[in-house]
Amino acid sequence: MMQQFGVIGLSVMGKNLALNIRNHGFSVAGFSIDKPEVDALAKYEDDKLKPTYSWEEFINSLEKPRKMLIMIRAGKPVDMTLEKLTELLEPGDIVIDGGNSNFNDTNRRFKKLEEKGIHFIGMGVSGGEEGALNGPALMPGGDKEAYDKVSPILESIAAKTEEGVPCVAYIGPEASGHYVKMVHNGMEYGIMQIICEVYDVLRTVGNCTNEQMSEFFEKWDEGQLHSYLTEITSKVLKQRDDLADGYIVDKILNVASYKGTGNWMLEDAIKLGCPITVIAEAVLARFASKATLRDGCMPEFKGKVDLNQLITKLANAYYLASAVSYAQGFQQLSMAAKEYGWNLHYPAIAQTWEAGCIIRSSMLKDIENAFNQDADLPNLFKDKYFNDIANKYTTDLEEIVKLAVEAGIPIPTLGAAYSYLKTIFNPKLPQNLLQGQRDYFGAHTYYRNDRDGVYHMEWYTEK
Ligand code: 6PG
Repeated sequence: MMQQFGVIGLSVMGKNLALNIRNHGFSVAGFSIDKPEVDALAKYEDDKLKPTYSWEEFINSLEKPRKMLIMIRAGKPVDMTLEKLTELLEPGDIVIDGGNSNFNDTNRRFKKLEEKGIHFIGMGVSGGEEGALNGPALMPGGDKEAYDKVSPILESIAAKTEEGVPCVAYIGPEASGHYVKMVHNGMEYGIMQIICEVYDVLRTVGNCTNEQMSEFFEKWDEGQLHSYLTEITSKVLKQRDDLADGYIVDKILNVASYKGTGNWMLEDAIKLGCPITVIAEAVLARFASKATLRDGCMPEFKGKVDLNQLITKLANAYYLASAVSYAQGFQQLSMAAKEYGWNLHYPAIAQTWEAGCIIRSSMLKDIENAFNQDADLPNLFKDKYFNDIANKYTTDLEEIVKLAVEAGIPIPTLGAAYSYLKTIFNPKLPQNLLQGQRDYFGAHTYYRNDRDGVYHMEWYTEK
């Protein structure tokens, strides 16, 4: 019997996705160049799950047009796999790359495979191991025609929103799916760093214990701050160490790692001229954690605060700063869509992130609503809901920033969120002076606010 779908790469993500596909009633073949991975899958073998031990066996076990998902480490391994597949596949076959591939690579691969008549889909997959098995969020981009052929499988394995909608939607052509996943990860970096700063304020200004902090996050998760990252933060904070006394969070070395998807978002933001300040600061905060001198004074708060008030203000600051992270992500999506000629459907993207993925949160429903009301929203804070929360919570964010400064706590993302809001809602930015300076030393010209046209001042003439 021929299999309906194939998975190449059977480490935990690939294996779990293969099982998820099988569990939803589709027949699936699995292959890996790493034999022990195939052996591990073979433990689940049945009439709908077929482990295969060679490229040929794998390819020949799939019904035509063949449909397959590559779930391997991004970079060179993907190119090597595609090279091998091009020898074996036929026009009309469909290859999906589900890894965290750089969108520039995906564009290149898309064009190369297109020449051979092979359809290539670059698909963001979010939700980690657990999501892969029980319902990930999927962001596929590429040929619509090819997507339509795999959509029944993708829709059935994807996570479902509260309304039961699958967390998968055709994103757009070429590398748009991997681009959207990259932006997802950039926002993930932003929100994770915001949470770290909230934690720092709680422990230093609020003098809170890990148990207390865990409870606050647990409580927040029951309200408007409901999100996967809020939930897991509560769990991480109260986890006891398994090697020594105390809490594991206090033993984990405070040096951040990264695989680079957030960095790529920043690279492209620079190319597009997109002000993703919170996300940029979150990327840089990871670098900074590696570059610190680990010397000097510990942050210390000498003032007095009412703990209940601090918690309320922090919750509001966390909520508003997260909204800024999302707003900046969507801003980059709309700039990229213009630059690369993609027609992105923002409500569908928000909906895809409502369940299954790492940045899932109740706020995504509000984002979906905002883009449903105005598909061309230039900035999320133009929407009434988000405009209202900016009006309601900016003072609390400001107070948290002040308290952090008083205690000597670095707040790169909370500070950036505050400055971003103070920038977008500011009709009197000081860059008039900057334009004057540019014109002074380089005759770079400037526009005026009282008449049309381009101007240059003869600065050196004595007036
Ligand atoms: C997801 C995650 C996932 C990745 C993390 C880690 O959506 O499931 O984004 O793709 O494991 O983003 O990335 P860093 O190692 O760069 O923190």
